[in-house]
Amino acid sequence: MPFYHKLGEIPRVKHTTFFKPDGKSLYREELVSSKGFSGIYSNIYHHHLPTAVKSVKEIPAKPDTNWPEAPLLYFHFFTDDSTVEGNFIDSRVAYLNNPHCEIITAKVTKDSDKFYRNAQAAEYIFVHRGSGVLLTQFGINPFGPGDQLIIPRATTYQLKFDNFESNKLLIIESDTAFEIPNHYKNEYGQMEEHAPYCERDFRPPEYCAPHSDSGEFQIIVKAKNRVFDHIVPHHPFGVVGWDGYLYPYVFNIKDYHPKVGRIHLPPPVHLAFKTSHFIICNFVPRLFDFHESAIPAPYFHSNIDSDEVLYYVEGDFMSRKGVKEGSITHHPGGMPHGPQPGKTEASINVKKTEEYAVMIDTYSPLLPTLHVKDVLDKDYAQSWL
Ligand SMILES: [Fe+2]
Repeated sequence: MPFYHKLGEIPRVKHTTFFKPDGKSLYREELVSSKGFSGIYSNIYHHHLPTAVKSVKEIPAKPDTNWPEAPLLYFHFFTDDSTVEGNFIDSRVAYLNNPHCEIITAKVTKDSDKFYRNAQAAEYIFVHRGSGVLLTQFGINPFGPGDQLIIPRATTYQLKFDNFESNKLLIIESDTAFEIPNHYKNEYGQMEEHAPYCERDFRPPEYCAPHSDSGEFQIIVKAKNRVFDHIVPHHPFGVVGWDGYLYPYVFNIKDYHPKVGRIHLPPPVHLAFKTSHFIICNFVPRLFDFHESAIPAPYFHSNIDSDEVLYYVEGDFMSRKGVKEGSITHHPGGMPHGPQPGKTEASINVKKTEEYAVMIDTYSPLLPTLHVKDVLDKDYAQSWL
């Protein structure tokens, strides 16, 4: 996260005594750090020992949904058509994965008092539809449509929705952190003027009074393909204060300031977040290229070393036929891709687009899962004929 943040009560000097109001018992300090001790970190002050666990039980794995025979082809599928529903943990449907990331959508139709911790992946959650709050030990992050929640690896959290009418999330798990691209920042870490956003567009957690209650609290802990049920004796959000650079934050896609060129500019101008193994771009309403003969639709191109995934949010996506809200297209590396017949011509002299979409470009090949078959647009692969 690009700036220092502090909430609640913390001691004047770190790693020193910090007594509760009784003057005898200590708050417990926990350093949450990344890249060993060399990356960003926060110091958290707990009411109770953060290490206390009453019991641990492995939850039997779900049936294997890998699809090793999936053809190397263009895929388009309708994630809104999935019939899988549930709470913010069990409604997740994974469609594409590689050793570094997993691309998931979720229709959240139920509340849950469980807590969730992805012990081995950071999470990006795009709120397509729905509103509510992200609760963590760092505080409260209210969210609504278009919000992008960046949740550091191993953060214990809950998602509480305002209602259960049409909640829809795009979730991307990453084995490395989601970060602001370095070229958007100056040597002091501040966002440069040419960046598509600035510090005031990022929403850090808001203060939440600590939960100091004891009892039995269930945390579902995911570790890659294994899932565990941890029962802990103290409320996971029993935190009196914290400070540092490592915390969940929110950025809304509608706050992304797009760049426009004289001729077509490629996806890196839409870059929002990076990891070590893929990038996330934000496509938002913008004016098209202003050369008198410009073709706004993208040219055909071959990514020789990356896969390209688009999640369609709203508006008319100018280069693709047949896509709907909640569609995902996957164009694997090693194959050319581009606009369907008629789309290039139709884009000429068009002045602007109203589209919203999230793009994920991965540096390792993605494999579709069997869930893709359930909601597949069977005609897409031949739609350039
Ligand atoms: Fe592309």
